[in-house]
Amino acid sequence: MFVKTLFSVAAFAVLTGASPVTNPHVVHEKRSSAPIGWIKREPLESRAVLPISIALAQENLDKGYEWLMEVSHPTSSKYGQHWNASDIASAFAPSDDTVAAVKAWLVSAGVASHRVEQSDSRGWLKFKATVEEAEELFKAKYHIYEHSETGQQHAACEEYSVPASLKEKIDFVTPTVHFDAKLRARDENSLEAREKKPGHDKTRGGPGHGGPKLKNWIPYANIIKQLKDCDKQITPWCLRVLYKFPPGFTSNPKNSYGIVEYTPQAYVPSDLDLFFKNFSMKQVGDRPILDSIDGGVVQQTNMSFNFNGESDLDLEYAMTLVYPQKVTLYQVGDEVEGASFNDFLDGIDASYCTYEGGDDPVQDATYPDPYGGYQGPKDCGKYAPTKVISTSYGYNEHDLTPAYEQRQCNEYMKLGMLGVSVLYSSGDYGVAGNGNTCINGTGPDAPYQDGTLGGRFNPSFPGGCPYVTSVGATQVKPGANVLTTTQPEMACETVIYSGGGFSNVFPLPSYQASAVKGWFKAHPPPYTAAQFNNSQTTRGFPDISANGANYVIAIDGQWGLVYGTSASSPTLGSILTLINEARLNSGKSSIGFINPVAYAHPQVFNDITEGNNPGCATDGFAATTGWDPVTGLGTPNFPKMLKLFLSL
Ligand SMILES: *[C@@H]1O[C@H](CO)[C@@H](O)[C@H](O)[C@H]1NC(C)=O
Ligand SMILES: *[C@@H]1O[C@H](CO)[C@@H](O)[C@H](O)[C@H]1NC(C)=O
Ligand SMILES: *[C@@H]1O[C@H](CO)[C@@H](O)[C@H](O)[C@H]1NC(C)=O
Ligand SMILES: *[C@@H]1O[C@H](CO)[C@@H](O)[C@H](O)[C@H]1NC(C)=O
Ligand SMILES: *[C@@H]1O[C@H](CO)[C@@H](O)[C@H](O)[C@H]1NC(C)=O
Repeated sequence: MFVKTLFSVAAFAVLTGASPVTNPHVVHEKRSSAPIGWIKREPLESRAVLPISIALAQENLDKGYEWLMEVSHPTSSKYGQHWNASDIASAFAPSDDTVAAVKAWLVSAGVASHRVEQSDSRGWLKFKATVEEAEELFKAKYHIYEHSETGQQHAACEEYSVPASLKEKIDFVTPTVHFDAKLRARDENSLEAREKKPGHDKTRGGPGHGGPKLKNWIPYANIIKQLKDCDKQITPWCLRVLYKFPPGFTSNPKNSYGIVEYTPQAYVPSDLDLFFKNFSMKQVGDRPILDSIDGGVVQQTNMSFNFNGESDLDLEYAMTLVYPQKVTLYQVGDEVEGASFNDFLDGIDASYCTYEGGDDPVQDATYPDPYGGYQGPKDCGKYAPTKVISTSYGYNEHDLTPAYEQRQCNEYMKLGMLGVSVLYSSGDYGVAGNGNTCINGTGPDAPYQDGTLGGRFNPSFPGGCPYVTSVGATQVKPGANVLTTTQPEMACETVIYSGGGFSNVFPLPSYQASAVKGWFKAHPPPYTAAQFNNSQTTRGFPDISANGANYVIAIDGQWGLVYGTSASSPTLGSILTLINEARLNSGKSSIGFINPVAYAHPQVFNDITEGNNPGCATDGFAATTGWDPVTGLGTPNFPKMLKLFLSL
């Protein structure tokens, strides 16, 4: 209530400046074509209600990189001295002027102040508006878009405008031109179709968001027991031998590891037990801690590889590898709406909980004097973020707008400042994008095309965000023995190819500059600017890789062999969680954002120098000495990583 009063004063002051005559609308964002698979249908009904979010421009983002390096770079005297949530919220909060000006415009346009809620991080204004109101506010025309394969529906417009004076104060508005709404049903071609065509290797088509690929089911009797056979099947034992890490043996209460899943993807409890019975007997009955975000449920109505593959894979391996440390499952989105990465970030943003003007007397009673620069109660997000967060879902960078991606990327920066390691799988289509799509031409409006016909490389998001650790995939070389071969691994070329390349949106971060420039110099790729941004000024990915081939998983009561960077990310996350365990046990902080340490100490990784990541009718890039855009710096060498991180 109090804040309303505060703002109505400010609102009055700015009101005159918001008149249409002196302050015409200017186009803020536009897109000329919907992402592949989305078909424009009828106009949205004018009385339908849209949940509008306005992302306000934040302060101090230009300092964020330095602040993150201060707590993450191995040579910094402040290494590991992470920020707390309330300090982060105040450091980046939009200025009072920004908030007041945008609110004043809304009020003058007929959106009464009491309808508008502001997040406690102060970064967002949210309200519900009819389509008619939204179309008037943003000079936009909303249509329903339908996905040709999944039938999913989404509200979007082709462009929208804001008053000229507010252009610099608003990052973007949703829902508008972004197709971020839902991360749900898997790529039909790569999953269900594969189920029907066991052994079929080539995948293409579809807009999928990743997900592991099933090659074939295997009879229980064929599960390997011999470590010398890790080139044929990967089990938790194989991973421990490959990366030289022991089973976990302590459970520090300060440690935590989170796996993110998007409904209706769901794990099957009996699958966990089947897996545990064979690979981690003590864990039979063990379940992840469930943090449900936006109505997230572990649905058990629809059961198939399509619905259970990702969650079963992630949890069977993560839970086994870090046991007795518990794993937290962030189950995001309900069965109707689904959810996006931003919904997940809202759920763990410790500075985002109650809204201004909220009528909750309990909450209101805890507020300090609102006129004294209220910054929001601390740690009031729905869930605290875990120390490591692994996500095996991804978009194509080309699916979303740069403004939207920058904004989300900055949220990963804040998580890094909090001491959280954020991992994303790098994609399974080599230099092509989800569903093996490439881009026809340059620029944000260039359309997609079938990757087998060539086209420009299609990097993944958020793999190209410099504040996440992007995880690529390796495999054991056919015939190699993990017990005796010096370097038994190569880039994954079985069923999937490790996602890698260069961002078209994000600049080259300084921590990676010498690795990337060194690679261009020593191994100039046989491509031109027509294939990818070869200016040596954009972010390269992945950063690190881990095995992503032949994983044995229990799924819907059977055993299957699965593939993907979807497997690599939770495996790397497990290893980082074991390192956090050791650091926390010796009174140190979590490792947080690891890239600056990783690039400063490439020797703690097993360099991968064989294999390619084909796509877009090319051989893609080649794994080679040092960092490369196929396997990054290489795979983890746990003893070396542990020694290094314990020395910091
Ligand atoms: C956050 O850290 C600052 C020091 O930077 C400290 O003054 C403040 O009390 C801390 N807040 C919480 C909630 O721990
Ligand atoms: C391993 O799984 C199979 C089912 O595939 C089951 O029959 C067997 O009992 C399990 N192994 C153990 C040790 O329980
Ligand atoms: C899941 O199952 C329900 C009930 O059988 C069905 O109505 C629904 O369409 C299914 N959902 C999907 C995404 O297939
Ligand atoms: C790429 O775009 C050009 C020009 O718009 C078009 O003629 C061509 O057919 C497109 N190529 C593919 C493979 O879609
Ligand atoms: C490559 O990235 C740089 C830096 O962002 C940019 O200036 C340049 O226009 C990009 N080149 C292409 C072909 O997109």
